[in-house]
Amino acid sequence: MPHTLLVLAHHRSDSLTAQVAGHLQARMEEADGTVDVLDLYAEDFDPRLTPVDEPDWEDREKRYSPEVHAHMDRIAAADDILVVFPVWWFAPPAVVKGWIDRVWNYGFAYGRSKPRLAGKRMLWLGLAGGPDSDYAKTGLDSAMDMQLRAGVSQFCGIVDSSVRLLHGTELSGVPQAQRSARVREVLTAAGEALEERLPR
Ligand SMILES: Cc1cc2nc3c(=O)[nH]c(=O)nc-3n(C[C@H](O)[C@H](O)[C@H](O)COP(=O)(O)O)c2cc1C
Repeated sequence: MPHTLLVLAHHRSDSLTAQVAGHLQARMEEADGTVDVLDLYAEDFDPRLTPVDEPDWEDREKRYSPEVHAHMDRIAAADDILVVFPVWWFAPPAVVKGWIDRVWNYGFAYGRSKPRLAGKRMLWLGLAGGPDSDYAKTGLDSAMDMQLRAGVSQFCGIVDSSVRLLHGTELSGVPQAQRSARVREVLTAAGEALEERLPR
């Protein structure tokens, strides 16, 4: 059974994003998979790049900070990488960008003739407040797909990767009586995306 690194990026543990992550973790564990939950906020991950983690283009064997190497080990151990995040400004939150900047580093995630991350599967699962139709109209869904699938996963040799957006996830305008039904719909859609993209 696959071992999954589940990356969660939300500042509130009661957020819909965190509920989706918890639901998917439970599904994977029920299917006898193992899950390493990387809750970037709860682990106080610092997204800022500092000189110790800056790539040295002349040394792909560079030792980065111990924190970054510990994160690299968690990625290396995973068969599947699942990133669950709220869409902020048509992109993942800054903490995810900083995780990529610091951890998906030269010599580890890219810069080798045989990519070390090749053979893994990856799913970027974003919760978007806005409707599907707005994204299709503007092309922002394709932009996110290009940025994350082509610009990160495939750039690092992860061919089997995709971006899925769950739309209409802003519940503040939804009447209280309808909220739990809406949450169930979002969890169901998240489960379907998992089954389709990271089948057990
Ligand atoms: C700073 C910020 C920026 C946002 N930008 C977008 C956006 O670009 N597109 C969108 O569809 N929703 C946007 N939203 C709405 C969030 O996607 C939505 O609130 C979230 O998915 C709800 O899930 P949560 O309860 O887990 O936060 C934004 C929300 C915040 C707080």
